[in-house]
Amino acid sequence: MKRVGILLSGRGSNMVALVEAMHAGEIPAEPAIVVSDRPEAPGLERARSLGVAAAAVPRKDYRGRREEHDRAVAAVLDEAGVDIVCLAGYMRILTPWFVGHYEGRMLNIHPALLPSFPGLHGQRQALEHGVRIAGCTVHFVDAEVDHGPIVIQAAVPVLPGDDEETLSARILAQEHRIYPLALRWLAEGRLRIEGRRVVLEGEDPGLPGALVSPAPVS
Ligand code: GAR
Repeated sequence: MKRVGILLSGRGSNMVALVEAMHAGEIPAEPAIVVSDRPEAPGLERARSLGVAAAAVPRKDYRGRREEHDRAVAAVLDEAGVDIVCLAGYMRILTPWFVGHYEGRMLNIHPALLPSFPGLHGQRQALEHGVRIAGCTVHFVDAEVDHGPIVIQAAVPVLPGDDEETLSARILAQEHRIYPLALRWLAEGRLRIEGRRVVLEGEDPGLPGALVSPAPVS
């Protein structure tokens, strides 16, 4: 059974989706610990209420010492015996040391169809750009922000009258759908990275590498 560490900075809805899927036996892995760089992140309390250990490594204690902070976070994760790391709204740029430490075993979710709209407010960027199709991406983490090899994406329509809130909600529903899937594949040892491409070994009936939301386009 793989042990999963989840990093977050905020409300933690993706963390809840991952933990619930693990607890339901849908993923051959168990949540080992949830760590935040912000002690006030609501996701920490949500993790504890799901029976998952939660800890803060406050970024403000490490001002200007980014790698030291990353090493402190990794110490907490490694102490908990973590095999896989999932970034779930962890709003921090990772140092090359941290990325290397978890190479090939760290996933991130981003609320845009990468490589479009990396960085902050992916949904707002998509809306302001005027795209008709938005979505989300789960990818392996590499040294660049929101950049590594893509595991799965889901697309949603941008509807007339959408604002950042309505579009974000539509995307978030898909985030909660694809992140547990990607974690399952990684925990099952079925993901192989070939350059920029990720290959899923074996069949997953009805589940291609991309999902399109069934939401109607009006
Ligand atoms: C999610 O929409 C996630 O995709 C995004 O932060 C939100 C966290 O929500 N992550 C990024 O923008 C990373 N660049 P959550 O705390 O409810 O999971």
